Amino acid sequence: MGDIILTGDRPTGRLHLGHYVGSLRNRVKMQNEGKYDKMYVMIADSQALTDNFDNPQKIRENLIEVALDYLSVGIDPSKVSIFIQSQVAELTELTFYFLNLVTLSRLERNPTVKSEIKLRNFETSLSAGFLIYPVSQAADILLFDANVVPVGEDQEPMLEQARELARSFNNIYGEVFVEPKAVLPESKMARRMPGIDGAAKMSKSLGNAIYLADDKNTVKKKVMSMYTDPDHINIDDPGKVEGNIVFTYLDVFSNDSHFEKYLPEYKNLDELKAHYQRGGLGDVKCKKFLIKVLEEELEPIRARRAEYEKDIEGVFDILRKGTADARSQGAKKLEKVKAAMGINYFEDSDLIKDLQNKYKD
Ligand code: TRP
Repeated sequence: MGDIILTGDRPTGRLHLGHYVGSLRNRVKMQNEGKYDKMYVMIADSQALTDNFDNPQKIRENLIEVALDYLSVGIDPSKVSIFIQSQVAELTELTFYFLNLVTLSRLERNPTVKSEIKLRNFETSLSAGFLIYPVSQAADILLFDANVVPVGEDQEPMLEQARELARSFNNIYGEVFVEPKAVLPESKMARRMPGIDGAAKMSKSLGNAIYLADDKNTVKKKVMSMYTDPDHINIDDPGKVEGNIVFTYLDVFSNDSHFEKYLPEYKNLDELKAHYQRGGLGDVKCKKFLIKVLEEELEPIRARRAEYEKDIEGVFDILRKGTADARSQGAKKLEKVKAAMGINYFEDSDLIKDLQNKYKD
């Protein structure tokens, strides 16, 4: 059997370049390589509610933003089922059965959850729903027999939890689930795209992100305000490229043909860096180049988004179809789960016969 790929995002904000480099780009690549039996991308609205239960409007608003971002980067609904977590009731059902197979102390040991609890000040009022979201995430993965789960490093504990649950279930009730593995981004940069302010991570809460939906002018302004080398004051000063975000971004996005097109006095990034390090090259010139490089990537995304924005009904049709597909796959799997657990009473034709025999004599 070929691979079954599943990934997802919480709809808590628009997606940015960090998401793009870290996962979206790779999803499109996997989709187009076609080396899989089935690929799902899930909008994890139920999971997003575990720490936004008091602000459902936020989730509702961002659900469409995330869907538009998916489609605009080129996730193709004819190849990938894009679905909404909350609309697949089978996920909730499976979560409930999985909860018996995990202890509270195991859940409290999850390092990602631990740091999120700290970050959100949940120490004194931790909801049960938040603590158990890794179990629900295991259900997301296992219900679809996904064996390949492309995620960031911070999701590795969730995958570990999913494998443990698959193993416990299989031990108790028989072989039903496959153990999934995380596929982490290859390059170091893809793992953590820095923010425009030089902070280690691009994030909505830090306000240092370039969004896929940002217009040209916004991107321009953000790049112009980018953190470079604070000691590079005069053009003639030697500059540092390490930690200089403009160069970090150029490392990720630029190639030799960009130089040929926009900055022909340099052959490649190494030459540009060398000049910057020697002195005599200004930040503005590098930033203007980066804007052109980024625009090449962002312009088609923006154009595709504009098309989909004109047809929100069409976007919802895509989600409805993807969700229907996920639901039918999920229902089939859940039947097997319930059969293994012996709680498929109405589907078990022998049950009534056997019971009748038992009471006959
Ligand atoms: N926890 C993931 C995140 O915050 C989102 C997610 C939910 C997910 N369910 C998933 C990712 C299943 C991969 C597989 O990004």
